[in-house]
Amino acid sequence: IERTFSILKPDATQRNLTGGINALIEAAGLKIVAQKRIQMSLAEARRFYAVHKERPFFGELVEFMVSAPVVVQVLEGENAIAKYREVMGATNPAQAAEGTIRKQFALSVGENSVHGSDSADNAKLEIAQFFSENEIISG
Ligand code: GTP
Ligand code: MG
Repeated sequence: IERTFSILKPDATQRNLTGGINALIEAAGLKIVAQKRIQMSLAEARRFYAVHKERPFFGELVEFMVSAPVVVQVLEGENAIAKYREVMGATNPAQAAEGTIRKQFALSVGENSVHGSDSADNAKLEIAQFFSENEIISG
């Protein structure tokens, strides 16, 4: 059993899509074992996306992530990291496969509704940035 970290981004919370996205997550067999709605600070957003700090879109990305509340989650399941990436679909919704969250809901490559960890190491780090172990309730 594996855990991954998920964010329902500002475009999703502002369009009341958190339930619709959670339905796709759960239909894929992933269990939401921790979840909270937060307003990210600039410092949190910069830390979270530090790997992208040299990219031209970094400023825009950070501004977007603090523009409204987000929902942070821990998802658990068999191959949760890869499975959630599959359910999310391609970063650019124009390239996302039918049935994926981004195909159904995302607006653009920036406002693409969800984040999911891309490796086991990053999943661990990202979960630890937002949740303490006693907030994650498996079972
Ligand atoms: P995440 O799960 O959010 O990390 O998405 P990803 O792994 O599919 O994409 P990547 O890690 O390459 O990029 C991180 C995030 O940066 C994306 O989800 C987008 O929100 C944003 N991003 C990537 N490319 C662009 C771009 O060209 N313009 C803008 N505005 N944002 C971008
Ligand atoms: Mg990524």
